[in-house]
Amino acid sequence: MKDVAVLAFSGGLDTSVSIKWLQDKLNVDVVTVTVDVGQGDNLKEIEEKAYAIGVKKHYNIDAKHEFANDYIFPAIKANALYEGKYPLGTALARPLIASKLVGVAENEGAYAVSHGCTGKGNDQVRFDVTIKALNPSLKIIAPVREWNLSRDEEIKYAQKFGIPIKAKKSIYSIDQNLWGRSIESGPLEDVMNEPSVDVFEWTKPIEETPEEPEYIDIKFEDGTPTSINGKANDPVQLIEKLNRIAGKHGVGFIDHIEDRLVGIKSRETYEAPAAVAIIEAHKDLEKLVLTRHELAFKTKIEQEWAWLTYSGLWVEPLMDALNSFVDATQKRVNGVVKLKLFKGNCRVVGRGSPNSLYNVELATYTASSSFDQSSAEGFIELWGLPSRVARGKKVGHTKRREVIRTRT
Ligand code: ARG
Repeated sequence: MKDVAVLAFSGGLDTSVSIKWLQDKLNVDVVTVTVDVGQGDNLKEIEEKAYAIGVKKHYNIDAKHEFANDYIFPAIKANALYEGKYPLGTALARPLIASKLVGVAENEGAYAVSHGCTGKGNDQVRFDVTIKALNPSLKIIAPVREWNLSRDEEIKYAQKFGIPIKAKKSIYSIDQNLWGRSIESGPLEDVMNEPSVDVFEWTKPIEETPEEPEYIDIKFEDGTPTSINGKANDPVQLIEKLNRIAGKHGVGFIDHIEDRLVGIKSRETYEAPAAVAIIEAHKDLEKLVLTRHELAFKTKIEQEWAWLTYSGLWVEPLMDALNSFVDATQKRVNGVVKLKLFKGNCRVVGRGSPNSLYNVELATYTASSSFDQSSAEGFIELWGLPSRVARGKKVGHTKRREVIRTRT
């Protein structure tokens, strides 16, 4: 009996060629796994393709709800945006896919797991770190990284083994799931090139968006979105719905220069309408219900959260500690946020919460304000004290400079 290797299979050229490579070079039986994280591919077709290339067994795993509940929702609570921009769609899905691979490998008694990542990106790190942490006895095989084939060579190899390849391959490298679409390479590698219309699939180019704004209400419970416009949705449906609504108005297109973990700067574009709208709304609601101290501290936690996720350390115990802090703050993040979507903009125009710390009696500029202005004077006295003392020390300094100036 041959040894078994379990391969994450997307149906694309890289992973199709990887099946043959594993069979041919390593003489193993290949079991393929396609994890559905909302990428919208035809799973039946992918399964048929896997069997056509000669795999021993194929698994389709629907992980959409797990992805939404256990990966996307924590990201929302943490307002997770890598380098202030990227909602981490690809990065979040990798540890989930890796955990499914390990599960199948254990089920099948496999000695190795395999993925189609190259040696230049972040994804290899996310897969390898997670797999090694979950089951250190599994060997990791990354044929594309090891083999280092060019695209043309891969096509030749595929043709030699009769592997079906799509006639028209996208000029971009694309990865997509429920939380976003990542589009890179091709003409985008010239960082001065404006993304052309063929990059856009989920977000309308501004020129084609409706001439009228659209308002939506997002309701949050314990920091996670539960309904849109008063209609409750399960997490997956809610995100899909918001991708459609916000995308129609061109909301969620992101174009930025990103620092990859492996040290390369790359130009990345993303389409993440739901992510952008939800995080914008969630941040705003937090401002209403959390204290200034909580907010200031949480911003630091959020940066660390996004960094650990981006850099493949989902399994790092620090992540659990950060999540505990974040969860503790989210118990009060309940309420509704009104968004105005128009011409690529997503603007918060209203918010309300039973836990609101906004007190109009304190804030109002009218005479009815309950704020005692007489206490302000003493407060200012002490607030400015350290700065005044420090400036006082500098006086000698300033004078000396003035003396020098008058002399010249
Ligand atoms: N730069 C993003 C990340 O590292 C997206 C990667 C997208 N992958 C792709 N095959 N297009 O998470």
